[in-house]
Amino acid sequence: MTQDEQKAAVARAALAHVVEGAVLGVGSGSTANLFIDALAPMAGRIRGAVASSTATAARLARNGIAVLDLNEVDDIPVYVDGADEVTETLAMIKGGGGALTREKIVAGVARRFVCIADGSKLVPALGRFPLPVEVIPMARAHVARALVALGGTPRLRAGFVTDNGNQILDVAGLVIADPAALEAEINQIAGVVTVGLFARRGADLLLLGTPDGVRTLGAR
Ligand code: A5P
Repeated sequence: MTQDEQKAAVARAALAHVVEGAVLGVGSGSTANLFIDALAPMAGRIRGAVASSTATAARLARNGIAVLDLNEVDDIPVYVDGADEVTETLAMIKGGGGALTREKIVAGVARRFVCIADGSKLVPALGRFPLPVEVIPMARAHVARALVALGGTPRLRAGFVTDNGNQILDVAGLVIADPAALEAEINQIAGVVTVGLFARRGADLLLLGTPDGVRTLGAR
C-alpha cells in the first residue's frame, strides 16, 4: 500500500472503534479528513461529533454529521485523530496542522484516544519532526528564548494564526528522551498555550498503516 492507501485503510479501520449512539471526538489533518469521509454513512448512528478545529467542524457538517459544542457534552467515549510522529509507547508529536490546542482539549475529555497513522509516522524516539508550540503572541520572544535554553531551535510558523488567534513556534533539534517530562517543562513556560507533545495523555490504541495492511498497537 502507498502512504495515501495506508491513510485510507487506517481511517476505515477506525470505524470499528466508533461507539454508536454516543458523541465522537474527531481530530484534524489529512488522515482525520479521510476518517470523516468514511464516517459519513454512519452519521445517523452517532449522537454527533466534537471537532478539534474549525476545518474539521466544516468537513463534519458537509458530511451530514452534527457538530456539538464541547461545553454541551459530558462524555466522549472515543477520540480519533492522526499524528505527526508516534512511538511504540504511543507518545506523539501533533500540531503539524496547527490544531494542537483543541486536539489536546478534546483528547483530554475523551476516555479513549485512537490514533490513526500511516507507517511513516512510527519513530523510535520523538523529535525529528519539529515540535509545534502554540504561544500567546506577546510572549513569542520570551517563549522562544526559553525553548533555546532547552536546546531547541524555534522558528515562527510564518503567516499562520491558530483557531484560537495565537501563533506557533516549530522547534527543531530537541532531544526528547522523556516526552512526558519535556511536555510538563514546556507547559510551564509563561505564554505557552499548548505544546504538541501528547505523552501525559498519549494514545490508547494505534492503528498503523503498513505496506501489508493495518497493524494495531496498544491495548489500553
Ligand atoms: C493537526 O494539528 C495535527 O496534529 C495532525 O493530527 C497531524 O498533523 C497529522 O496530520 P496528517 O494526518 O495530515 O499527517
